[in-house]
Amino acid sequence: MKRETVIVLDFGGQYNQLIARRVRECNVYCEIYSYKTDIEKIKEINPKGIIFTGGPNSAYLPDSPTYSKEIFELGVPILGICYGSQLMMHLLGGTVEKAPVREYGKIEVTVDNSSRLFTDVSPKTICWMSHNDYISKAAPGFKISAYTPDCPVAAAENEEKGLYAVQFHPEVLHTKEGKKMLSNFVYNVCGCAGDWKMDSFVDESIKAIRAKVGDGKVLCALSGGVDSSVAAVMMAKAIGSQLTCVFVDHGLLRKNEGDEVEAVFGPDGPYDLNFIRVNAQERFYAKLKDVEEPERKRKIIGEEFIRVFEEEAKKIGAVDFLVQGTIYPDVVESGVGGESTVIKSHHNVGGLPDCVDFKEIIEPLRDLFKDEVRKAGLELGIPEYLVYRQPFPGPGLGIRIIGAVTAEKVKMVQDADAIWREEIAKAGLDREIGQYFAALTNMRSVGVMGDERTYDYAIALRAVTTTDFMTAESAEIPWEVIGRTTSRIVNEVKHINRVLYDCTGKPPATIEFE
Ligand code: XMP
Repeated sequence: MKRETVIVLDFGGQYNQLIARRVRECNVYCEIYSYKTDIEKIKEINPKGIIFTGGPNSAYLPDSPTYSKEIFELGVPILGICYGSQLMMHLLGGTVEKAPVREYGKIEVTVDNSSRLFTDVSPKTICWMSHNDYISKAAPGFKISAYTPDCPVAAAENEEKGLYAVQFHPEVLHTKEGKKMLSNFVYNVCGCAGDWKMDSFVDESIKAIRAKVGDGKVLCALSGGVDSSVAAVMMAKAIGSQLTCVFVDHGLLRKNEGDEVEAVFGPDGPYDLNFIRVNAQERFYAKLKDVEEPERKRKIIGEEFIRVFEEEAKKIGAVDFLVQGTIYPDVVESGVGGESTVIKSHHNVGGLPDCVDFKEIIEPLRDLFKDEVRKAGLELGIPEYLVYRQPFPGPGLGIRIIGAVTAEKVKMVQDADAIWREEIAKAGLDREIGQYFAALTNMRSVGVMGDERTYDYAIALRAVTTTDFMTAESAEIPWEVIGRTTSRIVNEVKHINRVLYDCTGKPPATIEFE
């Protein structure tokens, strides 16, 4: 599919994905490439615009990431952000040096409204700054278009050549009018039409899947998570009964989750596909019996998952395509796209492709960010409760029960978790908080209920705000919500007599308990 594209050239900045997401929010498709990408490749992509990211280095040092000056002669507009702006100036003959005053945080910037980049932006606007170096002198041919008391060149431009440099970060929300600036760049400067829309993406993808699959047979491992659900529905709309979805219920799902997935994908649901639900609860519980060590639990669950899937796949026989719910951040983080390679530590179904006999992998969501996957899901008519489902780890409740897993403990944590989720939703907090769930501690303590002494388990409630799940803060939940949840849990869930709220961030804790 050929669509107008803006590329982000990644110089190691922490916001590379954020920039791409913001551009896409302007309805312009955007991809991330490492600064090591060959210029011939860039010519081949033929982008409408290029954005240089920030980065931790100093543009004037010999070993810092750089790019051939030829890029400025392609006739493609370029926006340099932070390090990217300094690099542009440095390469084109300006001066970058250590700033006498380091700017960090929200700073008022005075902008020149006659600049195409700042059309309709307030003349004094709050921007997010984070830099040790600064541009002390703009490159020849550049006009200064913004400044602060400590930063003489907060933005500079060579309009004729379509080159723009901003010291601040328009992509972060702290920059109040950042979105407008990025929109100005892609529309006023690059002349984009804005053809990146989820409805057309879905239509085009369905056509492309049909063309690729022909009358082939396709297998999809369905976890019930957002990505695999959206991928499965897209495939179902494209090729219907040529698709088989295998859903392994390992008995470690949230309350009613297995039935919810079956209601959508099973024979009574709206799709004409072959849905196989494998009820493997007993098998998983038996393997997990008396196992307490978290890593061993994870391993057992992962391996057993593969064994169950393998058995089902054998029954189905050879297939032509295997569907995977890979999304764009996975692609970037695996090092294919950007520069800042993050080691992926979690895999839902690690090793799955090896155990299935197939010819090719289809990844229908490979180009999408998570928020776009959700939009595509809504376009496809998937119910909101599935589309806005929060992330759920592959090992499921197995790692939300501290110590050995038993069917009784699974039931306790499922019931408590359902209450917590219900109360959070009732309070209207469900879209605000990154992730929230209940975990069963391995601690029993004394309580009193009615006139009876109890000796029962403690449930821990967790709620975190996070942008990337690499770091997280414990969410400040109103006390009345915690209070209501607590009294419901101790009243409604047998063998729980104490409710604790986890106030720890990540680091030092992790989001999950094991
Ligand atoms: P932690 O506990 O490492 O979790 O702070 C970060 C995010 O990853 C999810 N998580 C997993 N996801 N398989 C997954 O697919 C796993 O084994 C796994 N372990 C943790 C966790 O829910 C959180 O969103």
